[in-house]
Amino acid sequence: MIELKNVTKKFGGRIVVDNISFKVNKGEIVGFLGPNGAGKTTTMRMITGFFPAGEGTVKVAGFDMSENPIAAKERIGYMPENVPLYKELDVMSYLKFVARVKGVEKAKTGAMISKAMEEAGITEVKSRIIGRLSKGFRQRVGIAQAILNDPDVLILDEPTSGLDPKQIREIRDLIKEMKGTRTIILSTHILPEVSMTCDKVMVINEGKIVAEGRVDELGRSSGGVSKVIVEVEAPKTTFISEVKKIKGVETVEAEPREGSKYNLFTVGIEENSGAVRDILSKIIKNDWELMELKRPQVTLEDVFLKLVTKEDV
Ligand SMILES: Nc1ncnc2c1ncn2[C@@H]1O[C@H](COP(=O)(O)OP(=O)(O)O)[C@@H](O)[C@H]1O
Ligand SMILES: [Mg+2]
Repeated sequence: MIELKNVTKKFGGRIVVDNISFKVNKGEIVGFLGPNGAGKTTTMRMITGFFPAGEGTVKVAGFDMSENPIAAKERIGYMPENVPLYKELDVMSYLKFVARVKGVEKAKTGAMISKAMEEAGITEVKSRIIGRLSKGFRQRVGIAQAILNDPDVLILDEPTSGLDPKQIREIRDLIKEMKGTRTIILSTHILPEVSMTCDKVMVINEGKIVAEGRVDELGRSSGGVSKVIVEVEAPKTTFISEVKKIKGVETVEAEPREGSKYNLFTVGIEENSGAVRDILSKIIKNDWELMELKRPQVTLEDVFLKLVTKEDV
């Protein structure tokens, strides 16, 4: 549904988006995750045709944004970071104005506005002045204007920024309800946002995609080494020296432990090396009682920080 190929954007000679390529399939919700200044907004603006890509191609619903911009844009709804709302208008008048700007046929305007208001959950406030609505409701008006032309693709730039926790949850639920019917890209610098709403995440840093994948997969591994936690009734020094001999084992560390006959170790192993099997046979051979063998929960936060923070010097 959305396809970027080798897209680059420079501002005043400085590369802001650096040769990125990706695809988003129909019905997916994809999160752009990255610190401020990473290039999320710039990428979204190229997808929406707000400005052209410097190099590379952007396709939306099969239409090339530079060759067929109108057809492509007709299929996109965009909620920019700061939605240009007219605060002195009431919700209905504002949406009528947006419908005119978007070129919605007059005869269809009423029905399309009603549908968008319904979907965004703002029907009850349709006669209220926008400036007097809560920030959460104003954000919903922003979503309503984005979905007004019933687009296949929805681009939401930091849709929950500046909202309180209750409003954040409501906007999140609203986005999740649209799942399946629309293809959505949203950006955020807040981690829980992606794990709670998105199927896939792309971590963007300094204009590059530094990681992408399913939210649960991303936490699994990094750099070809994964960790295993072993809780076992084994003397610390013996366990460490024995396990270190195993092929594929990179590190063995004893975790501090008190008041238990079981010691706790974290073993770093080379992925797909089969070392876990050898660790197990070593435990059996030594007749150590094994309490637990598991992979540690790596949070998205760990992965994110590792990817976007430079090594401390
Ligand atoms: N119109 C512009 N002119 C010059 N520099 C810009 C412009 N828009 C964004 N930038 C710069 O590009 C970088 C990426 O910005 P942006 O895409 O807004 O990041 P994000 O949305 O991830 O916070 C930043 O360093 C920003 O200062
Ligand atoms: Mg931004």
